[in-house]
Amino acid sequence: MDSTLAVDVDRYLESLFADGDAAMEAVLKSSSEAGLSPIAVSPLQGAFLSLLASAMGAKRILEIGALGGYSTLWLARGLSAGGGVVKTLEIDPKSVATVRANAKAAGLADKVDVVEGPAALSLEAMIERGEPPFDFIFIDADKENYPLYLDLSVRLARPGALIVADNVVWKGEIADGKSTSAAVKGLRAYLEQASADTRLKTSVIQTLGVKGHDGFAFSLVL
Ligand code: SAH
Ligand code: DHB
Ligand code: MG
Repeated sequence: MDSTLAVDVDRYLESLFADGDAAMEAVLKSSSEAGLSPIAVSPLQGAFLSLLASAMGAKRILEIGALGGYSTLWLARGLSAGGGVVKTLEIDPKSVATVRANAKAAGLADKVDVVEGPAALSLEAMIERGEPPFDFIFIDADKENYPLYLDLSVRLARPGALIVADNVVWKGEIADGKSTSAAVKGLRAYLEQASADTRLKTSVIQTLGVKGHDGFAFSLVL
């Protein structure tokens, strides 16, 4: 798909709603210097996640997959005034160090708690120890495990919480039920599980822009 026009539109919208943000640009720069992949959410998507968290008055946010902390810090900015935390689960030690440094540089170290290790184990440990429920959960780690992350997330969410999953359209490849890609299989299983789960009310929005053709799934925990 030719997305040149969509990129131009994103650049224009960024200039209005997500520009001149030195702190967030510094996160991308340090992520790139640390050798992390350039796959963070786009500036407009980050601003949108932040707006959603704000609209919900979220005080406890859980993120699965931090990379350099770009989405993490957008979410931390969306925390309601007077407190709250973003707990982010990350397997890659290099990412963990980068997120911590970026949170500190942004003056948000007290609001970001990075948990190092495989996310499934961290989620199970949180359930085990009776972690207080989360208001907002952002799933953005390994696509193969999205179905497991959804199940564990529902158990960590309060009624009325929102679970947002990134990358669920995957350049449109999710329309191919015969795909042998592990990511596509994981993403399709996630969507089918969300659709069948009576504890959730779900919809999906496709996106097009600087990150190409993709989409977010939004599930309200009933
Ligand atoms: N949310 C970030 C992008 C995350 S990229 C942003 O938008 O800015 C996906 C991240 O998930 C990577 O940092 C990767 O190391 C991490 N990841 C992959 N498998 C994981 C696992 N099993 N447990 C925890 N993190 C994992
Ligand atoms: C890719 C993009 C993402 O947002 C992500 O979380 C993982 C991979 C990608 O484009 O490969
Ligand atoms: Mg992603």
